[in-house]
Amino acid sequence: MKITLEFWRQNGPEDPGHFEKRTLTNVDEHASFLEMLDVLNEELFAAGEEPVAFDSDCREGICGQCGIVINGDPHGPERTTTCQLHMRSFKDGDKIILEPWRSKAFPVIKDLMVDRSAFDRIVQAGGYISVNTGAAPDAHSQLVPKKNADRSFEAAACIGCGACVAACPNGSSMLFTSAKVMHLGLLPQGQPERRDRVVNMLAQQDEEGFGGCTNTGACASVCPKEIPFELISLLNRDLMKSMFVKARAR
Ligand code: FES
Repeated sequence: MKITLEFWRQNGPEDPGHFEKRTLTNVDEHASFLEMLDVLNEELFAAGEEPVAFDSDCREGICGQCGIVINGDPHGPERTTTCQLHMRSFKDGDKIILEPWRSKAFPVIKDLMVDRSAFDRIVQAGGYISVNTGAAPDAHSQLVPKKNADRSFEAAACIGCGACVAACPNGSSMLFTSAKVMHLGLLPQGQPERRDRVVNMLAQQDEEGFGGCTNTGACASVCPKEIPFELISLLNRDLMKSMFVKARAR
């Protein structure tokens, strides 16, 4: 396949950035998208040019490290992670435009790499449970209703890639935050911190500069792990209840 790439070059958050163009001939249609970028970088390196910086780690759709806006879509034309996308999703002669996640809360580190540590700080603000040290308790020592276990598991599938933020016209991280709040809030083990968790994680989300949610649903439509949009409603219900409980306790 012959593919023309237009890729974003940016040397840090203050650099205005620009696009560069390169044509690759002989791209294997069965190559993964990141393998195609590896070939691009080998060519750039051989020509004495700087390789394009992009993130990846597991390359198996598990870690959430990869993430590129491909022809305007976070992770590209398929509902999967960038590392699980293959060149057979494109046609011979296609032009592919590559951009980093664009969000105020995700400053560009270099080229297609962004700093997603804002997500880590949201999790640090409440994405944990109290545990007693000692031997691990039996798995069924606390029974969990099947409906809650399934919903919690769906939420826990979030890999924190940030595609939801990149897709949202407001740059909101509500789908991410709702997944992290609700996967613990639906389980008995998550109850001790439940009322503080939702309040603190949302406060941190605002502090990081993410936009507000206006229910466009763009986030859920691109999520490679199909995190359900309804989790945002569950988070909002949890927030209202938590604020009420806290107000009564004053
Ligand atoms: S590199 Fe781990 S999910 Fe893509």
